[in-house]
Amino acid sequence: MIIAVDGPVAAGKGTLARRLAAELNYAYLDTGSIYRAVAARILAAGGDPQDPETAAAMARDLTPADLERDDLRREDVGQAASQVAAIPAVRAALLDFQRGFAARPPAGPGGARRGAVLDGRDIGTVVCPEADVKLFLTASVEARAERRHKELLERGEKSIYARVLQDLRERDARDSGRATAPLKAAEDAVRLDTSGMDADQAFEFAMAEIARRRDQERFQEN
Ligand code: DC
Repeated sequence: MIIAVDGPVAAGKGTLARRLAAELNYAYLDTGSIYRAVAARILAAGGDPQDPETAAAMARDLTPADLERDDLRREDVGQAASQVAAIPAVRAALLDFQRGFAARPPAGPGGARRGAVLDGRDIGTVVCPEADVKLFLTASVEARAERRHKELLERGEKSIYARVLQDLRERDARDSGRATAPLKAAEDAVRLDTSGMDADQAFEFAMAEIARRRDQERFQEN
């Protein structure tokens, strides 16, 4: 089973996707971290994340160790990730890896895994249009900025709410407005507005949706 979790920055995708994967013993891929890894390598080398040739070369050279970099969650890396993600050659270079992960989820400590949860922007539309369950998470930009602001303060980083709000607006506009694989809900995605929800409520909703899909598939098999 493939579960796609898409949505804008700080809508709660990562928290939900990680928890679903743990509960179901599925493999989990945070696809944003791949774009972040490309961006982090470019910034570390003093390059320009908006230069298509530099970015595409970095994307083709990416190694699993890059996904473990400790600078991936930095705000400047997030902004640069959104820039490299708008370059079609970067997206093309990263597509096979993501599809391979979904089709053949890597084994975990308990052995083989029968499914994968991927979160990102275009999982339900481009990477895995055949996903069994597609969730599209949204929340008001103010609720998301508030969450991100709190997260940064809790990590001991400096944060100014107005600045975070401005950054999210810029990334939303770039991620939704790009020509290749823009952020948008697949037609068959189930939408969930998490503005007034906590993580437990979003999890319960998603588990109910997964159970509903499984019943449907079982019914179709019989
Ligand atoms: O989810 P995130 O904030 O870690 O993602 C960082 C950037 O990567 C985001 O602004 C857009 C891009 N991204 C993408 O274009 N497609 C994905 N599937 C995941 C992330």
